[in-house]
Amino acid sequence: MKQYFLIALTLFITTSAIAKPLVVYSGRSEALVGPIFEQFEQDTNIKLDVRYNSSPAGATQLLQEREASPADVVFLQETSYLSVLANAGLLQELPNSLLDQVPEQFQEAQGRWMGTSARARVLAYNTNLISEDELPQSLAELSDPKYQGKLGWAPTNASFQAHISGLRALWGDEATEQWLEAMIQNQPTAYPKNAVQVSAAGTGEIAIGWVNHYYLHRLQQQQPDLPVKNYSFPQQGDAGNMLMIVGAAITKNTDNQAQAEMLLNYLVSEPVQWRFVNEVFEYPASKNVATHPDVASLDSIEFVEIDQGSLADIGPTLELLKKHGLL
Ligand SMILES: [Fe+2]
Repeated sequence: MKQYFLIALTLFITTSAIAKPLVVYSGRSEALVGPIFEQFEQDTNIKLDVRYNSSPAGATQLLQEREASPADVVFLQETSYLSVLANAGLLQELPNSLLDQVPEQFQEAQGRWMGTSARARVLAYNTNLISEDELPQSLAELSDPKYQGKLGWAPTNASFQAHISGLRALWGDEATEQWLEAMIQNQPTAYPKNAVQVSAAGTGEIAIGWVNHYYLHRLQQQQPDLPVKNYSFPQQGDAGNMLMIVGAAITKNTDNQAQAEMLLNYLVSEPVQWRFVNEVFEYPASKNVATHPDVASLDSIEFVEIDQGSLADIGPTLELLKKHGLL
């Protein structure tokens, strides 16, 4: 009797191991990527167990769980946090069959994550209130007193904070703080969210907002006639022209290697890339899908070169923002 029980137990454990769903830690919202994951399940018969969280929270959880984590795939809004996980030794080097599908810009130098789409930091400006030639040549110049009373920003926004972390890496802590102090002298209106900030630029409540590029295009879907445009800095490699990459990775201790690779492959496949481009106006990671015609092409912007990992150095950034009363 006892023997049969053991056999049954072994069978149960074996089959449940085979049927174990692929565990995904997703920092992208269910509203955005839920339908994509459902389609993947239908197309492949692979069962997913998607655990939604903010990107920093998902990354922190994995850092705490380490090798004991159930996560097979990590899909985060900011690859900066994937770099943190990679540097903690928790992510595997991806096979070239995956990496080769995205441009070099979308591959981590050591191949431990791949970009699945990207967003650009821009100014959104009201074309009735300010002309393009009055806009700053560089992000540094945005703190010039001539912009006093014209600006908006969203200090609680994750991309804002990532950009400040990027500035600290590029300029150093002291210069970043000086710039921030000069910005505060310009009395920017603080918005809780970037979408509200771009609307405010559209209605003329502010002349210039500091945001991600896609908010404009989402707003224009509702209100195509608002006098608001995106602007990238003409100075080559300016710190304001920062590309923020969304991406995915596979954990080192996954027991679902083939399925995990299939999911990453799916995220850069044409139908999924099409959705990122046409539903949320992001930059595609696939060479086979074109940027949305309303969005400035990646080639038209001189991006600053920056290690995406530095964008996740959030602790000192939050301290800096608190010190100046921005949080
Ligand atoms: Fe956003």
